[in-house]
Amino acid sequence: MNLHILTIFPEMFVPLQESIVKRARAKGLINVNLVNFRDYAPSKHKNVDDYPYGGGVGMVLKPEPIFAAVDALPAGCDRKIILMSPQGRRFDHSLADELSREQELVFICGHYEGFDERIRSLADMEVSIGDYVLTGGELPAMVVIDAVARLIPGVLGEAASSQSDSFTEPFLEYPQFTRPETYAGMQVPTVLLSGNHALVAAWRRKESLRKTLQQRPDLFRPDKLQPSDFVLLRELMQEDAAINSLSHLWLAYEPPAKAKLNKTRRHRCKHE
Ligand code: ADE
Repeated sequence: MNLHILTIFPEMFVPLQESIVKRARAKGLINVNLVNFRDYAPSKHKNVDDYPYGGGVGMVLKPEPIFAAVDALPAGCDRKIILMSPQGRRFDHSLADELSREQELVFICGHYEGFDERIRSLADMEVSIGDYVLTGGELPAMVVIDAVARLIPGVLGEAASSQSDSFTEPFLEYPQFTRPETYAGMQVPTVLLSGNHALVAAWRRKESLRKTLQQRPDLFRPDKLQPSDFVLLRELMQEDAAINSLSHLWLAYEPPAKAKLNKTRRHRCKHE
C-alpha cells in the first residue's frame, strides 16, 4: 500500500519508523511518502495559512499549497484522499478494514484553526478519530495508519493475530496472562494452567462476555451469541449484580430450555 502524507510537520512522523510499521515498510508492504506542502506555497515567504474572510480568531489553511501538493503526487493507481478533521466520519475498526483494502491512501493533515472550505473538494473522505479537537491532523493520521497497516495481509507476524482482536470479534478480547504464575500476590487463573483446551476455551468465552458487559455494554451483540453462551451468561448473572441488571439485552435471544421442550414433547406424545 502506498501512503502519501501531506503535512507541514513531516518530522512528527517518527513513530512510522518504529515497530510493526517499520517492519512492514522494510518488507515493502507499505511505502510512506511524506510531503511538506509548505514546499508548494507560491508566495515568497511560503505561507500556508491566512486570516479568515469575514474575520474571526485564528488562521486558516490556504488552498493553493495543498492543491499543488496533491497535483504533484506521482501518477499512481486508484487512490483515496482522506482529510483528517474532527468533522469527519468517526474512525473505527470497520473503516480501518475498508481502508486496508485500498492500494493508495493520501492523508491531508491540517493545522491551525481549520481549512479553507475549498480544500474539502479534494477529499474522497473526511475522517475524525474522535469527538475532541487536536492541534493538527498528524497524530490522527498516524492513528489511522497504524490501525490500517496491521490489517494488511503479511504485516503482522502471525496471520491470526489481528483475527482475534477486540472489534474484529463481536465481543471484547478475553484477559491474557503470561509468566510468572503469581505476581505481587495476583494469581493467574488456575484453569489456564490446566492444559484442558475445552475448559480454557469456555473460560475465555465467559470472560470475553463478562468484559464486554462490564466495560462496553453498547458493543454487546446478542444476535452473535452461540447457544452455549447462555449457560455462561446465567453464571455471570449470578456472579455480578451489574451484569444481572443487563440481562434484558439477551433474554429475548435465549433458546427455550431443553428440559421444558422434552416435557412438552412427551406430553404431546401421551396425548396422541
Ligand atoms: N484534527 C484535529 N482534531 C482531529 C480529530 N479529532 N480527528 C481527526 N483530525 C483532527
